[in-house]
Amino acid sequence: MTEHRPVKDTENTAARATPTLPDTQIVTEVEHYTDRLFRFRCTRPPSLRFRSGEFVMIGLMGDPDPETGKQKPLMRAYSIASPAWDDALEFYSIKVPDGPLTSKLQHVRPGDAIILRPKPVGTLVHDALLPGKRLWLFATGTGIAPFASLLREPQTYEDYDEVILTHTCREVGELTYGAQLIDAIRQDEMLAELIGESFADKLRYYPTTTREKSPKMGRITDLMRSGEVFADLGVGPLAQDTDRAMVCGNLAFNLEIKAMLEDYGLREGANSNPAEYVVEKAFLD
Ligand code: A2P
Repeated sequence: MTEHRPVKDTENTAARATPTLPDTQIVTEVEHYTDRLFRFRCTRPPSLRFRSGEFVMIGLMGDPDPETGKQKPLMRAYSIASPAWDDALEFYSIKVPDGPLTSKLQHVRPGDAIILRPKPVGTLVHDALLPGKRLWLFATGTGIAPFASLLREPQTYEDYDEVILTHTCREVGELTYGAQLIDAIRQDEMLAELIGESFADKLRYYPTTTREKSPKMGRITDLMRSGEVFADLGVGPLAQDTDRAMVCGNLAFNLEIKAMLEDYGLREGANSNPAEYVVEKAFLD
């Protein structure tokens, strides 16, 4: 006998809120960090396969056209912040008050629908780098998102002796997501089991702020030029035979650090032509 279970009103709220589209996913968790930053998790399409560090297009339906009443999806590229093995997807986002997408996206709540195109791409992947001993992950602002994925990926610790995450933000509150992430990773039992208890010793974290007082202040680029970051971490400057780098931040930062990495002798890699560093622009609305 077929059981006809009564459908609870709350279960259909999300489906009714947005016209049904094939690429709809449901938000399961939302956390706000500052008035500029939040993260959310959503369901993962069973067919979606991706490599940790890649991005997808996500979005919401735009407002109806005043003349035709038609709605168009408003889509932007977002790095997937969760690792490839995770059942759900996580995204870390800026909130721009008049940003076309984030002015709306910042209000999503569990149960709401978002649109997700399941076509992952990107260069911040292990395949785009040649083997090395030390991996540098250089992030500013929401550019930490792809590294939140890679830092939860066992391969990151299998492939390298040392993994250094640098994160430069304007204010202290903008470091919270990364600080909590690092704490959680250091206590992660699955990683400890797979890589060994000492995996946490491989992970170094170097947060800096530029506009609010914190234990380490300054742009990471300036701290590299002065040698301070190398002295603090007890490592030498980057070298082509040992060091690999992934970069994700605002455009000015990406360009500046790219030139510095070239000066250290590292060459830019790609999926089709792996080398010593890779760069991607962090999403900005
Ligand atoms: P600053 O405060 O000196 O501009 P944003 O929030 O604007 O994306 O910036 C994130 C962080 O990136 C800020 O701490 C900012 O420092 C820093 N930043 C901006 N441009 C550069 C650059 N060219 N090199 C290094 N860091 C930069």
